[in-house]
Amino acid sequence: MSDRWPRSPEEATALARLYDVDMLEDPGDLDLYLALAERAGGAILELGVGTGRVAIPLAAAGHAVTGVDNDPAMLDRARRRGRAEGGATHDLLTLHEADIRDLRLADGAFSMAFIALNSLLLLPTREAQRDAVRTMAGHLAPGGIAIVDVWQPDADDLARFDGRVILEYPRRDPESGRLVVKVASALHDASTQIVSLTTIYEEGDPGTPPVRWLRQDRLRLVSADELRGFGEDAGLEVEALAGGYDLEPIGPGSERAILVATKG
Ligand SMILES: C[S@@+](CC[C@H](N)C(=O)[O-])C[C@H]1O[C@@H](n2cnc3c(N)ncnc32)[C@H](O)[C@@H]1O
Repeated sequence: MSDRWPRSPEEATALARLYDVDMLEDPGDLDLYLALAERAGGAILELGVGTGRVAIPLAAAGHAVTGVDNDPAMLDRARRRGRAEGGATHDLLTLHEADIRDLRLADGAFSMAFIALNSLLLLPTREAQRDAVRTMAGHLAPGGIAIVDVWQPDADDLARFDGRVILEYPRRDPESGRLVVKVASALHDASTQIVSLTTIYEEGDPGTPPVRWLRQDRLRLVSADELRGFGEDAGLEVEALAGGYDLEPIGPGSERAILVATKG
C-alpha cells in the first residue's frame, strides 16, 4: 500500500491481494459514492484508488472514473478487475500511477472527486494532507462534489494502541483458497497524532508451513474539525460533516468523519 519500506514485487503483490481479503468485510460506503456520483453527473476522480473497490462499481454504474494510486501492485489488481468486468466498465475506467501530492491532471475536469476509507491518513503530515485536499479541489469543476472519509478512533481504541498484538481475524482468501490469519499491533503517539501500525498476515494450507507477510503503515489521525479546515482552506463549501455513510451528523461516538463539500 505504500513505499514506506523496501518491498519485493512478490511482497507487494501479496499485500495488495491481502488488502482485498481485509475488504471482504464490507466498509459499507459504496451506496454513498453511487448516490453522490448520480448527483454529480460527470467524470469522477478517486485519489488512492487502491484495488478499485469503489472505482469499479462506479464505472459499472456508467460513470467515467479516473483512479490514482502510488502503489503499482494495488493498481495492477484494479486493472485486472476492470478487465474482468469487461466492456463498458473497462472503457470507463482510467488508472494512473502517481503520488496524490504531485498529481496534475486537467484542472477542473471532474464533477466529483474523493478520498475514501482513510487514504488521507496515509499522507505523513498535516501539510501533505492539506495539500491532498487542495489537489482534489483543484481537479473539480465549479459545482463539483468533494468527499473525504477518515476514521475517528475513540478513547478506548487509542488506549489499546500501546503495542499489544491483537488477533484481527482468521479468514479464507477466496482467490488462493488459503486460510489467512491476521494479527496487528498499533502504537499511538499522542504528540504527533500518528498511529504506527504493524500487520502480520500468515497464510497456508493445513500441514504446510505458513507464509508470513508484514505490512507497516503510519496513519496520521485527522480530527473532524481539522478535516473541515482542510476543505475550507481548499476553497470548498462544506455541505456536510457526517459521522457515517448515511450522512448522519457527526457526534460523540462517531467512528468516521466524512466531509462532503462543493466547489463554488
Ligand atoms: C486504505 S487504501 C484505500 C483504497 C481504496 N480507495 C478503497 O477504498 O478500498 C489507501 C490507498 O491509498 C494509496 N496511497 C497512499 N498514499 C498515497 C499517495 N501519497 N499517493 C497515491 N496513493 C496513495 C495506497 O497505495 C492505497 O492503495
